[in-house]
Amino acid sequence: MAEHEPVLTAMNMSVTYEVNPPVRAVKGVDLVLNRGEILGLAGESGCGKTTLAYALNRLLKPPALLTSGSVTFHDKGGADIDVTKLQKNDLREFRWEKCSMVFQGAMNSLNPVISIRAQLFDVLKTHRPGMSKKAMTETAQGLLKLVGVDPERLTAFAHELSGGMRQRVMIAMALALNPQMMIMDEPTTALDVVVQRGILREIMRLREQLNFAVIFITHDLPLLLEISDRIAIMRSGEIVELNTSKNVFENPQHEYTKQLLSSFPSLLGDEGAFVRDTGQGAAGEGAEDVGADESDAALHTDRAER
Ligand SMILES: Nc1ncnc2c1ncn2[C@@H]1O[C@H](COP(=O)(O)OP(=O)(O)O)[C@@H](O)[C@H]1O
Ligand SMILES: [Mg+2]
Repeated sequence: MAEHEPVLTAMNMSVTYEVNPPVRAVKGVDLVLNRGEILGLAGESGCGKTTLAYALNRLLKPPALLTSGSVTFHDKGGADIDVTKLQKNDLREFRWEKCSMVFQGAMNSLNPVISIRAQLFDVLKTHRPGMSKKAMTETAQGLLKLVGVDPERLTAFAHELSGGMRQRVMIAMALALNPQMMIMDEPTTALDVVVQRGILREIMRLREQLNFAVIFITHDLPLLLEISDRIAIMRSGEIVELNTSKNVFENPQHEYTKQLLSSFPSLLGDEGAFVRDTGQGAAGEGAEDVGADESDAALHTDRAER
């Protein structure tokens, strides 16, 4: 697992939205992601998490401007890639093959008029030219299996899938080219708790199996405490604390971290001390409820969302 060998090093990242007045959304952030680790990025809505993610993956568009910073990707072959200097094709390759992203609200961004299969094929056709149709079908089926979706659903359209299923498909797409790292921006926020659990379990299992690193973004600190190796706490564009999950939980250093922890009553025991449900966390409780139950629960969510 985490071998303390970096896969991505970002230094002094600053992003301003050039509006009037300008918004300094990210201010001098340093961040190192180790191979195979899950790094949680926590902080209130509007603190700059998505902006930072976009800066790491070169997705910023005007009025956002990267005013300072460097991003280095340490490729598994040993080469260091200066992400800020990548041009067109190399940048496209970087985004899918090395560092893929699951966007906030991604499950609603599947193309409604083409099948899941066609969308997976698009990725494979672009990045694996020469792959036979048979191989693409097998790969697409394998990817769905990987994320716990019945491969029969390949021919489905987005509206035929529950929210949880759609989000799993988005994760399958992000995994399609076997990236060394993924950035997941609130990947389960819109889902109800049961579905969320199922997906988190899947992510943790896949991480074990495929050994990619994850930057997992959410405002849900209790969730991060369960799944992350380390957690970065972000506030007003800055990372105010970065430590192992255990230390963030047991020995928070920054006043804001303490405040954030105490804002989740579920973490407080009778005595007012923090209590972490260590059990086996996301991998433990209800481990058998993946599958049918989940799609049921997801359908309920969908209904509630409408
Ligand atoms: N297009 C934009 N123009 C101006 N300000 C923006 C834009 N997008 C985001 N911001 C501002 O940047 C800050 C960080 O936003 P964001 O990165 O989306 O935060 P988070 O993901 O933590 O909720 C917020 O103050 C937000 O209002
Ligand atoms: Mg966001």
